[in-house]
Parts: sequence; C-alpha cells; structure tokens
Amino acid sequence: MTAIPGLPEGVVSVDGVIRPVAEARVHAMDHGFLFGDSIYEVVRTLGRRPVAMAEHLVRLRASAEALYMALPWTDREISRAMGDAVAATDFPECYVRIVVTRGAGAMSLLPDVCPRPSMIVYALPLRTPTAEDLARGAQVAVPARLRNDRRALAPAAKTGNYLNNVLALVEARRAGGEDAILLNAQGHVTEATTANVFWAKGGRLATPSLDCGILAGITRTLLIDALRSEGAPVDEGRFGYEDMCGADEVMLTGTVRGVSPVVRIDGRTIGDGRPGPVTRSLIARYDGLLAAATQDW
Ligand SMILES: Cc1ncc(COP(=O)(O)O)c(C=O)c1O
Repeated sequence: MTAIPGLPEGVVSVDGVIRPVAEARVHAMDHGFLFGDSIYEVVRTLGRRPVAMAEHLVRLRASAEALYMALPWTDREISRAMGDAVAATDFPECYVRIVVTRGAGAMSLLPDVCPRPSMIVYALPLRTPTAEDLARGAQVAVPARLRNDRRALAPAAKTGNYLNNVLALVEARRAGGEDAILLNAQGHVTEATTANVFWAKGGRLATPSLDCGILAGITRTLLIDALRSEGAPVDEGRFGYEDMCGADEVMLTGTVRGVSPVVRIDGRTIGDGRPGPVTRSLIARYDGLLAAATQDW
C-alpha cells in the first residue's frame, strides 16, 4: 500500500484491538463506511483524564437511539475502551474519538443485516488553538448551503454523516473563510461545521436555540450553565444573519477549539475586528470549567 501523507500519530482501537493509526483497519462491508450509518463523540483529556465523559456518554446514547441502534456495551465498558486507548499513548493530552458503526453485514441498507456494532476509538495528540490563533480570531463565511433540516437527519444526533458539513466547509474556504456558519431553511443561524456559535451584543450573550436544528454541544451547555448560575443572561432563540453579523463579538465553541473568536463574517468586520472583552473573559474562564468537568475513565 502507498504511504498516506499527513496521518496523525496515535493509536486506534478497533473492537478492542489497539494498533498504530497507520495499521488500523475497518471492514469493507461496515455500514458505517457504506452508508454513513454510524455515530461518534470527541472527548478531550485534561491531565490525561476525560472532560465531561458522562455528558458525552449521554449524547452518544441519544445519537444511538436516533439511529435505532442498540449499544451492546455499558458506559463503564465504553469509557474503559477509551481510557485503554489513551493509556497506549504517551501524549500529554489526547483527542479521543469514539465511532460506533452499525458493523459489517450484507449489502443492504437495512441495519438488521449487521449482527453487531463496531467500536472504534482513536487516541491522538490533542491540538487546541494557539495563543496566536485566539489573539487573531477567525474569518468565517456563510455559504448558500443549508444545515440539514431537523425533520431529515436531525443535527442533534452526532452521526457519521458529515458530508453536508464537509461541503459547506469547502465552500467557505473557497469564499475565504476558515469555517462555515450555516443557516437553516427558515433563514435562522444554526452552527458552524464542528462548533456552536455565540455572540455578544451590548453585554448580553445569544446563541441559536436547539430547535433551530443544531448539535447540543457539550461546550455550549457548560458555558450556558456556568453563565446562568452567576445570573448572566444567555438568550437562546431563533436569530437571523443580521442579528449575528451586527453583534459586537462572535465566537465558536467546541470540545477541541474551546472558545474561539470570530472577527470577520463574509468579509464584514465584527466589532473592531479583534477578539472583544466578553470573548476574552470566556476564554480565560474556560480552563477552569474544563478542570471542574474532568472525570475518571
Ligand atoms: C456540528 C457540531 N456542532 C457543535 C459541535 C460542538 O460540540 P461539543 O462542544 O460537544 O464539542 C460539534 C463538535 O464536533 C459539531 O460537530
């Protein structure tokens, strides 16, 4: 086989067998590969322990339910498989991705031809935004492509069907953006390709509500809960493009990127074109929130 450039260091556990990334293999008849019939989670570590593991497990099970998939493992078994993959590396911190596919079976769309789901766990080096990335902020684009409708494949389920997001990202890159923020068919802001979106206007934070058709990000929930517990309002609702672009500050949130500033949307400058005070204060507080959410495998 020809060598594939750019593969990360790290290990992959396929149904409990741990190998280096370059050597790991999944069955060609796996319905995850054939039909995108799979679900996933990405967990980050802090001190090589998982952050918000319980929350990720709850979401994994909700995604499985949305796909009529029965998971044949306990939470403990899933968590242990992830912990074992991390233990097989010596990275200071890991990006841990668990993919559960429908498994291998006959060439049929029907899930019940697959006797058992497969569990694939990746333990890779964690790469979070650098201090320079955070000081600079990102430019994003809002492409014509829409977020999947929640009555079709609901974005609330974290499935292996990311082609819509892949294409939106390609289109955003062509338009000069580093990421895409997608609208839904009603013209409401939803989320970025792998992140939720927040903005600040006059000191108040706003973010699209779950009924806009978004993933209930674990980072999004951590932030909303922390802010509300201090009495700081966060408005969840249906907002349009101009609500977001007219904000003083815009930021993206996700497990790997944490809180990341956005300084331009479709070439329009947000605020003064630099990460603002609300974003900077959330970035400063984010490590503390992660530490408080760190659990055991
Ligand atoms: C579409 C989408 N929205 C939001 C997020 C952020 O979710 P979390 O904070 O749980 O990482 C992700 C993460 O991958 C995502 O893929």
